[in-house]
This record gives sequence, structure tokens and C-alpha cells, in this order.
Amino acid sequence: MDHLEQIVNEARAAFAGISDPDALEQAKARFLGKNGQISELLKNLGKLPPEEKKTAGAAINQAKQAVEEALNSRREAIREAALAARLAEEALDVTLPGRSELRGGLHPVTRTLERIESLFASIGFTAADGPEIEEDFFNFTALNTPEDHPARSMHDTFYLNNPDGSLAEKVLLRTHTSPIQARYMQAHVAKYGQLERMPEIRIIAPGRVYRVDSDATHSPMFHQVEGLWVGENVSFADLKGVIADFLKRFFETDDLNVRFRPSFFPFTEPSAEIDVAFMSGALKGRWLEIAGCGMVHPNVLRHAGIDPEKYTGFAFGFGPDRLTMLRYGVNDLRLFFEGDLRFLRQFA
Ligand code: DAH
Repeated sequence: MDHLEQIVNEARAAFAGISDPDALEQAKARFLGKNGQISELLKNLGKLPPEEKKTAGAAINQAKQAVEEALNSRREAIREAALAARLAEEALDVTLPGRSELRGGLHPVTRTLERIESLFASIGFTAADGPEIEEDFFNFTALNTPEDHPARSMHDTFYLNNPDGSLAEKVLLRTHTSPIQARYMQAHVAKYGQLERMPEIRIIAPGRVYRVDSDATHSPMFHQVEGLWVGENVSFADLKGVIADFLKRFFETDDLNVRFRPSFFPFTEPSAEIDVAFMSGALKGRWLEIAGCGMVHPNVLRHAGIDPEKYTGFAFGFGPDRLTMLRYGVNDLRLFFEGDLRFLRQFA
């Protein structure tokens, strides 16, 4: 029996020193496996005299049970240790402060552009678009702007280089959104030109434009919103009505005056500058220039393939940055484009 006790103690000691599950199963074989120490003893039982068989068998079985218990409790301990290690590794410190989501907001100028689009959409204007890298043809030629016009000079307009560094002749950063007029009219004529009566064109086209210019009221990149209405019998009176109505709705007040001051643009005739004056508030009584406009020049219609004897139209170009400054009372245009969140958050 000493021998049995020794085996049990040996097994306990062997299991206790093992923390790897595979190694434990291998150690088990040494005692309980087919040729393990306990199994050998059981095999030899048959050789004992019958009167000893019973007690010896019982003793061996007891030893076997003790080894199995030791094995199972070690298995359990190893499993628990592995679980504890994994929990420790994957532990979350729920007392750490959370990472808060930064809430975004629309840029104030974007708000203005969307507001202008939706106000014009309510009177039947569709939004139109065009490329910021524009062809010389659409930016100038199609808009009746002659070769020697100062706007075409490098002082005023950003031109582009070819990959080899030479000046690209036919493309530039658009200086205004007016080329969208020319593109839209051309596409419209391609679609409906053969019809006896061409459907009306009524578009509103906001976008970024670029000029060589930078001070408190000028940024080399700024925004414009182009408008165009072409159809039969579209008149300057319609232009005045549409603009006055828009401004009152944009600024949410009837308390303003609008004036059309004669001006010149190559692509309109007659042309006017639109000024607005508020009848109350900090800017009370001051005329502020906010847009250019006019009746679409016959040459511009002709360039697009529209008969100026049959159709007329008006166009306008707003400075939405200016409108944003007026609406929110901001006095330096550059603030909008510096990306300072302390400024921008006020509008979010
Ligand atoms: N494109 C002109 C500019 O950038 C603004 C303008 C004036 C647009 C008259 C128009 C217009 O459509 O009719 O100064």
C-alpha cells in the first residue's frame, strides 16, 4: 500500500508542476494511460491469490480515483488561470472618460449657398454646375469678352501650367460662375434646339471662383451664384421682381430697398449693379453692392445657338460671401476661409 500512496503523491506532484494543458494530458498517460503505473497494477491483479484480490483491487481503485481527482482539479485550475489571464488582458477601464464625438456643422457660406438654391428652387430654378478648371472659351469668348479685356491678363486670372511647366493656353481657374450660363445654354440647345418652342432655361449655379486678389474684402478664392432665365418675353422688369423678392426672403425682412445702378458687363446689355440698403439695424441707409446683372447680350445667345430675335433672358451674379457677411454681421471676408474653428463653430 505504501507503493500506491507513493504513486498518488508522485502524480499529485507531477500535475502540480504543470501549467500547460497539453503537458498535463501527457503526464496523465504516465499514471492512467494504457501502460501507466495504475493500469499496470490493475493488469497484475489477476496474478494475486483470490483472497487478496478483493482488498488489493479496492485499494488500487481508490488510488486511481485519487489520481483522477488530482488530474481534474489541475485541469480546472489551468482553465481558470487561462480565463483570468485573458480577462486581465482584455480588461476595460470603465472609469476612463469616453472619447467624445466632434459634431460637425455646415460652413456659413455653404449655408448661404443652400439657402439661395432653395429660395430660387421655390420659383422654378434648377441647380446647375460647371468645372472650376474652365476653358478659356466658356470663361471669356462665349461670354462676349474680347481678347484684349483686362480680365484676361495674368494680373487678374490664374492660368495653369502644362506638366512640362509651360503655360497651358486654353484653360484657367474660372474667374466667375458665368461660364456655367454658356455651358448650360449650349447643352440645352443641343437637346431642344430643333423644337418650335424651346423650353425655358431657369438655372441657379453656385460655385467657387478664383482671382489674383487678396485683402480684407477680397480672397483669391471666393464664391458666386449665377442665375439665368431665358425664354420668350423675359424682361428687365422680371429681373427686378425676381431679385427684389429674393432679397426680401433671403434677409427675412421687407425693410430693405433695392436699386439697380447702370453698369457694364460684356455679356449683358443693358447691365446693372444691384445695391441693397437696409432701413434699420447697424447698416441702416448704406447702399451695399451685392450683385451684377443684366439682359443677356445677343452675342452670348448667338454663341449658344439661341436666336436673340425670338428669345431674351436675364442673368445675374451674386457674391454669396458678401451676403453671408451681411446676414451674420461679419466684417472680414478672410475669416471664412482661414478654417479657425473658434470662428466657424458659432455658425454650426
Ligand atoms: N460674372 C460677373 C463678375 O464676376 C458678375 C455678373 C454680372 C454675372 C452680370 C452675371 C451678370 O450673370 O449678368 O463680375
